[in-house]
Amino acid sequence: MAPISAPKTLTFPRLFLLFTISILMHYHPSEATHPPQTTEMVLYFQDFATGPNATLLPVAGIAGKLWTFSQFGTVFVTDDFITETPDPDSPLVGRGQGVYVTSALDGSSTHVAFSIVFANRAYNGSTLQIQGTGKQFEAVREYSVVGGTRKFRFAQGYTTFETVSADVRRGYSVIRCNVTVRSG
Ligand SMILES: *[C@@H]1O[C@H](CO)[C@@H](O)[C@H](O)[C@H]1NC(C)=O
Ligand SMILES: *[C@@H]1O[C@H](CO)[C@@H](O)[C@H](O)[C@H]1NC(C)=O
Ligand SMILES: *[C@@H]1O[C@H](CO)[C@@H](O)[C@H](O)[C@H]1NC(C)=O
Repeated sequence: MAPISAPKTLTFPRLFLLFTISILMHYHPSEATHPPQTTEMVLYFQDFATGPNATLLPVAGIAGKLWTFSQFGTVFVTDDFITETPDPDSPLVGRGQGVYVTSALDGSSTHVAFSIVFANRAYNGSTLQIQGTGKQFEAVREYSVVGGTRKFRFAQGYTTFETVSADVRRGYSVIRCNVTVRSG
């Protein structure tokens, strides 16, 4: 017959050891030294849709249709410059480079996929990736931030776009972009 063993209890030293091991297993130095941070920015896109210095151009579309913003299937490529204030001569923050595609059959929505490519002192060489479908003719358009590079690695967040001035004759508009992003 096997002897009946006394019930095992966790003595203080054992508990302490388990506790220490558990802390060591859950300790990630990279997370501890770089806590996620939230960054907010207000940027201004300088957008020229016509003329010799256009920064937004239709490059493809459905044959036999006019390649306009409201025509389904029209693809635009853009390289807007981005400034600190609505004034086009204010300090440069970077550029908005990518594509817009009119993606609703009725022309109401555009799908965007572009990068904010920073060139300012704070974020020079870093990028944010903006993507999603938005109602292009509404006052406030919202798109996600789906990623980023360098200072914005693992970025996630959202942006709002509002046209703050438009000169139809010159095809020139200034668009305010508010960015809220978590990264790190
Ligand atoms: C286009 O850019 C060139 C070079 O920066 C400038 O000289 C010219 O005045 C611009 N044209 C228009 C219509 O803005
Ligand atoms: C950004 O970096 C480039 C080269 O990587 C450099 O030429 C430029 O002066 C930098 N701009 C600022 C504002 O630091
Ligand atoms: C964007 O930021 C500006 C300045 O803080 C603010 O006035 C504006 O209401 C914001 N826009 C949106 C859609 O939140």
